[in-house]
Amino acid sequence: MWDPSKYLAFADHRGRPFHELVNRIGATTPRRVVDLGCGPGNLTETLGSRWPDATIEAFDSSPEMVEAARERGIDAYLADVNTWQPKPDTDVVVTNAVLQWVPGHQDLMRAWVEQLPAGAWLAVQVPGNLAAPSHQSIRDLVATPAWRSVLSDVRLRAEDVILTPQGYADLLTDAGCVADAWETTYIQQLTGPDPVLEWVTGTALRPIRASLDDADWQRFRADLAAPLRAAYPARADGTTWFPFRRVFVVARTSSNGAGTSSN
Ligand SMILES: C[S@@+](CC[C@H](N)C(=O)[O-])C[C@H]1O[C@@H](n2cnc3c(N)ncnc32)[C@H](O)[C@@H]1O
Repeated sequence: MWDPSKYLAFADHRGRPFHELVNRIGATTPRRVVDLGCGPGNLTETLGSRWPDATIEAFDSSPEMVEAARERGIDAYLADVNTWQPKPDTDVVVTNAVLQWVPGHQDLMRAWVEQLPAGAWLAVQVPGNLAAPSHQSIRDLVATPAWRSVLSDVRLRAEDVILTPQGYADLLTDAGCVADAWETTYIQQLTGPDPVLEWVTGTALRPIRASLDDADWQRFRADLAAPLRAAYPARADGTTWFPFRRVFVVARTSSNGAGTSSN
């Protein structure tokens, strides 16, 4: 289950990559703009400001997130990206910090650009931090004898579910698009006690939270706090650096028709 308030706790850090992604979309008068995996809708709102004449639609597989987005006035629907398909007038698709949760998303991206109209835009951002100490600490803890049996049903994401920027650029260029890919490591300055633990609680730890009762969850968090403090020590001023790599790709389908390679 996604908790919109937990997720919004780091809204500024989580919002910046969205804006940097959308800035690279060159569409001027798109007909339909879709936000896939819209979360609480705070960033979807900005798409309406950028393209006031477009129909803005949002989709998310979490009922809590869809409800939070609707409360902001977003036209949000419950849907899984695995089954979503573009309408013929979908000129822009944005999916920010979502596809890292979707195994096989490379096939979906290929299918979407085949189905999108000519000259449409697909903009994707995924965290590329599965090899970072934060995720390694979670994997290490889950593999300990104390937790292995308790969490035997939990499947953590492998490091290689995310491609490199060049991998995504290759994928979309081979699918007939013009692709622009890059990566950024944000040196995020977090505040408060155990801020990295708080960060991962809103995202990476959700599958673990879902399979533990309250007492075990508190025990798990306490066990994880120590390695996270060691990997991300607090500075003398009480703040904590949390470097975070993100991978971006913005692709445009051929102006001669989607899925052709003559652009
Ligand atoms: C990290 S949040 C990102 C939210 C928003 N895009 C943003 O940038 O703030 C990930 C979102 O993806 C949604 N999500 C995860 N898997 C999904 C799927 N298979 N289909 C649709 N939404 C999904 C979650 O419910 C969650 O709202």
